[in-house]
Amino acid sequence: MAKAKTLYVCSACGGTSPKWAGQCPDCKAWNSLVESIAEAPPVNRFSGYAGAAGEQGIIELASVQLEPEQKASTGIGELDRVLGGGLVPGSVILLGGDPGIGKSTLLTQTLGLLSQQMSCLYVSGEESPRQIGLRAQRLELNCDRFHLLPETNVERMLAIASHSNPDVMVIDSIQTVYTDLLQSAPGSVAQVRESAAQLVRYAKRSGAAIVLVGHVTKEGALAGPRVLEHMVDTVLYFEGEQGSRFRLIRTIKNRYGAVNELGVFAMTDRGLREVSNPSAIFLSGHKTAVPGSVVMVTREGSRPLLLEVQALVDESRLGNPRRLCVGLEQNRLSMLLAVMHRHAGVVMYDQDVFVNVVGGVRISETAADLPVLLAVLSSLKDRPVPQGTAVFGEVGLAGEIRPVPNGPDRLREAAKHGFKRVIAPKQNLSRKDAEGIELIGVERLDEALEHAFG
Ligand code: TYD
Ligand code: MG
Repeated sequence: MAKAKTLYVCSACGGTSPKWAGQCPDCKAWNSLVESIAEAPPVNRFSGYAGAAGEQGIIELASVQLEPEQKASTGIGELDRVLGGGLVPGSVILLGGDPGIGKSTLLTQTLGLLSQQMSCLYVSGEESPRQIGLRAQRLELNCDRFHLLPETNVERMLAIASHSNPDVMVIDSIQTVYTDLLQSAPGSVAQVRESAAQLVRYAKRSGAAIVLVGHVTKEGALAGPRVLEHMVDTVLYFEGEQGSRFRLIRTIKNRYGAVNELGVFAMTDRGLREVSNPSAIFLSGHKTAVPGSVVMVTREGSRPLLLEVQALVDESRLGNPRRLCVGLEQNRLSMLLAVMHRHAGVVMYDQDVFVNVVGGVRISETAADLPVLLAVLSSLKDRPVPQGTAVFGEVGLAGEIRPVPNGPDRLREAAKHGFKRVIAPKQNLSRKDAEGIELIGVERLDEALEHAFG
């Protein structure tokens, strides 16, 4: 028997190479080529990813029908928020997250609610109908019109779907789905990409909204090719700390709404419950002010959020002192420490610095700069920032405090939660937005440090 022809496929971009190499020749990712069996090109010419393009030829943009998108509410407010208002017909959503974080629980709950108003189909390749039934019972769902399909073959799945015409379809999970067009194992790069492409085409053709569940690898990337993220309309990620009962869903990409939107849930013994006032849960509620803890006002997506930043500074016994961050970017911390050294004369090169954002939230915005530096200095000096103080602001390399977007929103959130003082960039403060709080506008880092510890 002839030896099967092999080929190396990049697990990051799906590119192929005839020989193994340490770096993918297409996307330059390291160590991403895996051996797989070379397959005959798919029979269908359009089998590659065609997206929503279709085959219409040239059209005038002015002639395109522009009805406003009908967004169907899922009945779960926090999920609607990350979706940008609700489910859009014909859209494809990718929901990623670690195993056991609650993807199947959330989608079972959602379909339980949605199936009362529209036709839904839950396609499961991972769990048996019995397991799903037990979960639905535990969640106390009304299962009367909950349609379930245990299936992993995408062609059969779509054949059944074209008959029952569901408005919403959940595929749990895309890694278990395979197509007859390819011979490789389910979960392989080619299978995931091709099956997803077929599902995307079905969604665009039929107008069904499809939610794909995707697994996350040890490194934190979605298993299978990154190309999945390009094919779908919306990418949602479950985040959360190990051991914490709070679960966050973040929008990574959304063709129908804002990105970085954050939905907050709590896992209970009856499934996921929405947390409608998340600011309250992320503050650890110290009775008195403690050194190394600063409350910041971040704005994740369209709502402001109060978060606690904690820092610990300790004398280092290492030649190369440690800088460790949880929930923040480490390079940013190194940069901020350098700014503090140069512009405020605070020496840190013989100190280990650890920074943590409480509650497992990841902050990507620069408004965290000033709170981080205040927390670090507070720990170093062993002096607390006075109780009832909230902080936000970007720190520039020249030691200036720069304004951040949506200042008034942040001030209102701080006032709502009873904060008495806000230290913020001068340009962000306007009198009329916040009554009853003392506003301290700062322009330079040393000025901010003086006000905080003055
Ligand atoms: P699951 O939703 O199956 O996670 P995923 O599909 O993302 O892998 O599991 C969620 C976890 O939550 C599981 O460890 C059990 C737990 N859980 C609850 O605490 N309460 C509940 O009501 C349910 C259904 C699950
Ligand atoms: Mg699951």
